[in-house]
Amino acid sequence: MITDKQLLRKQMRGYRHVLPKSYRIKASRQISQRLIRFLEAKKLKQILLYWPIHEEVDLRLVAEYFWSNQLEVILPVADQIQKQITCYAVRCVDQLQTGSYGIIEPDPALARLVDPNELEAVIVPGVAFDKRGYRLGYGGGYYDRFFMKNPQLLSIGVAYPEQLCSSVYAESYDQTITILLTPTNLIYFLEKN
Ligand SMILES: Nc1ncnc2c1ncn2[C@@H]1O[C@H](COP(=O)(O)OP(=O)(O)OP(=O)(O)O)[C@@H](O)[C@H]1O
Ligand SMILES: [Mg+2]
Repeated sequence: MITDKQLLRKQMRGYRHVLPKSYRIKASRQISQRLIRFLEAKKLKQILLYWPIHEEVDLRLVAEYFWSNQLEVILPVADQIQKQITCYAVRCVDQLQTGSYGIIEPDPALARLVDPNELEAVIVPGVAFDKRGYRLGYGGGYYDRFFMKNPQLLSIGVAYPEQLCSSVYAESYDQTITILLTPTNLIYFLEKN
């Protein structure tokens, strides 16, 4: 039986898929610029970023900003068996490769392994986010496991406005984000669920 959560995932992926490319590029640039300003204001440098796949918000401008400031870019490597994220820091695109799910990720042979305790924030992609700060991803539970293990981490979701909805049918293991950034808003979720 297909669950409400699975149905919503399909629907929200569909909405995101039909957003015009020019719209996504503009929104991604706005979110990237807002994120850079936020990170500068808070003096945050050790950030787990992500490399976009499908029609996700594209934060490569943020990666370029890090590299042009002689900072490392930290990205996740997905372990498909354990369904866990490991963090690696890279100094340039040459240290990236195509990994599981076709995601561009650090080559562990070239990149620096990063302890999650070193991180100052985690930027979280998603298919949808709800008004309580819950997130819907692709269904692997990777970020839920990561935040359960590292509950102290500041998590910043990024989304086009079309990805917001009233409920993502969160379950007991689902973890909330701390902040949601859209092209025009920064929303704080003060209550930790
Ligand atoms: N802390 C955890 N320990 C073990 N299993 C977990 C944990 N968190 C989530 N899961 C499992 O992960 C599976 C997928 O979770 P969910 O549908 O919420 O994925 P998601 O948040 O959309 O995925 P992702 O973060 O990879 O984008 C569920 O079957 C759930 O049981
Ligand atoms: Mg989840």
